[in-house]
Amino acid sequence: DWTMAAFKDEAIERIRAQVGDAKVICGLSGGVDSSVAAVLIHEAIGDQLTCVFVDHGLLRLNEAEQVLSMFRDHYNIPLIHADESDLFLGALEGVSDPETKRKTIGRLFIDVFQKHADTIEGAAFLAQGTLYPDVIESVSASGGPSVTIKSHHNVGGLPEKMGLKLVEPLRELFKDEVRALGHELGLPQSFIGRHPFPGPGLAIRCPGEITREKLEILRKADAVFIDQIRRHGLYDEIWQAFVAILPVRTVGVMGDGRTYDFACALRAVTSVDGMTADYYPFSHEFLGETATRIINEVRGINRVTYDITSKPPGTIEWE
Ligand code: XMP
Repeated sequence: DWTMAAFKDEAIERIRAQVGDAKVICGLSGGVDSSVAAVLIHEAIGDQLTCVFVDHGLLRLNEAEQVLSMFRDHYNIPLIHADESDLFLGALEGVSDPETKRKTIGRLFIDVFQKHADTIEGAAFLAQGTLYPDVIESVSASGGPSVTIKSHHNVGGLPEKMGLKLVEPLRELFKDEVRALGHELGLPQSFIGRHPFPGPGLAIRCPGEITREKLEILRKADAVFIDQIRRHGLYDEIWQAFVAILPVRTVGVMGDGRTYDFACALRAVTSVDGMTADYYPFSHEFLGETATRIINEVRGINRVTYDITSKPPGTIEWE
């Protein structure tokens, strides 16, 4: 009978057979899929693997540090930290259209990845954490007309351009199986159970123009919201939760003074696959406590709203 332990052993054998003694590059996003792929491949071929972590400056609070400490210090995986926030945020200056944001980030991501990958001598393979649903989706997308609501950035076309062959050890797996495999590989539960995070990161949680100031405020507010959710033991019941900083300032009172700061929206949804979603029914007590904490702990926000839109007609992200 089939077990994840057996799958792991077979996958390791297959990777060794495919790669031989060539070098492999893996783009690490900090998400579960690319992380599991990287750890699995590292177990198969050790230091023949180098990971490239493109840091676009649109990550959450302490996220880059967490990825670095997990992969470099804990797993000892060779890792290039491409800290390119100036490049990305510079290119995004004045951009407020959501699709332009995605395309700008996607294009730069590929450039930066390629620049760093080129420094790895003898690389012949590119590893990707492609899952079975991704395989199905790209097959059906190429099989006929499709309506794209949001262009998800991916590294499509990159392997050919760089003359690399693909290693995709998760191609047969669904998300829950990837989590089980991650568990089998010893990744901590706190990491495996993390909510999905979009490639363009905080850019699409900052409707309108992105500024460093807004990003900093957003990171802090988001961290408070997630902390509240964890403290109340709700994290695992929720598919995805985050804060969006709104492109509007509102008037408030604080002590004897008047404030004129940003408003934010909390978003939390339940979902099976992200295709449809319902807003999470927090208690009013939870919402009140969270609003108070955000306003008290985060300078720059003086109003908190809760988004009760389901998908459809809304989307999960604000852009
Ligand atoms: P929406 O907002 O379309 O999100 O309801 C559905 C799921 O997809 C994620 N998402 C993205 N992921 N690049 C990504 O890698 C993107 O451009 C992107 N846009 C949305 C979103 O976080 C949710 O999990």
